[in-house]
Amino acid sequence: MKLAIISGGSKGLGQKLCEQYLAQGFEVIEFSRTAPHSYSIAIDLALANNVGQIVSEGLLTLAACEWQEIVVISNAGMLTPMGPASKKESESVIANLNTNFVSGIIFMTEVLRHFQLHRGKKTLVSISSGAALGERAGWSLYCGAKAGLEHFIRSVAKEQEVESHPFKVINVDPGLIDTDMQLLIRQSSIEDFPALEQFKHRKSMGLLASPTKVAEGVVHIINASPVKNGERIKVSLD
Ligand SMILES: NC(=O)c1ccc[n+]([C@@H]2O[C@H](COP(=O)([O-])OP(=O)(O)OC[C@H]3O[C@@H](n4cnc5c(N)ncnc54)[C@H](OP(=O)(O)O)[C@@H]3O)[C@@H](O)[C@H]2O)c1
Repeated sequence: MKLAIISGGSKGLGQKLCEQYLAQGFEVIEFSRTAPHSYSIAIDLALANNVGQIVSEGLLTLAACEWQEIVVISNAGMLTPMGPASKKESESVIANLNTNFVSGIIFMTEVLRHFQLHRGKKTLVSISSGAALGERAGWSLYCGAKAGLEHFIRSVAKEQEVESHPFKVINVDPGLIDTDMQLLIRQSSIEDFPALEQFKHRKSMGLLASPTKVAEGVVHIINASPVKNGERIKVSLD
């Protein structure tokens, strides 16, 4: 028996990751607000105080079973609110950082807590972004959260080195994907996001990858044995 635990599996990249693992015979569980699938659990990551309990309840029965392989993908994320930090209300700052950072970490720590002692192959992936490395005016919250998550993952990778049944823990940069997140970017304004035209151009030139192709790339990275604990890997579509 194999298990995939995915956040943000309702649409976009996360949905395609769920489909890939279902097709490979994995039992799949996904966490999102809209929770549209029979294997979904409803959660709002913006409300970080509730996240630990909801994730823990979702994992309890699964943690009582033996699994040959466990794949965990922290994928949920959002860009909004875009725009300069000087114009942000603290409420929207909290919602963004909860969704992209705090709840992502709670999601991953709950999974580690429930499955640390399980045997078998175990991989924990955090879906990152080029925004973790490169600065972007208008995306300061998103860039800050993704950068912080990457460092969290590198430190957890160190912790796993001394565990008797370690997870392999990696950051994966998926590249540009043709999802609702990109649509939201194109619907923003130059005032909020000065690089807007560049992103519109990429869409019109067909430079956004399909979520299916990127999901295949992520699964390939997870299955690749040379991938080292703590590594940051960019999805290759070649
Ligand atoms: N698209 C790109 O070009 C691109 C580039 C680099 C990195 N990424 C990263 O790739 C990942 C997937 O992005 P995507 O493009 O597939 O985005 P998407 O189509 O907008 O999907 C985002 C997913 O996150 C979930 N989510 C968002 N806010 C949530 C909340 N408050 N509570 C629970 N779930 C929430 C959504 O589910 P609900 O709406 O049902 O809650 C959805 O399943 C993200 O981490 C993103 O940062 C994307």
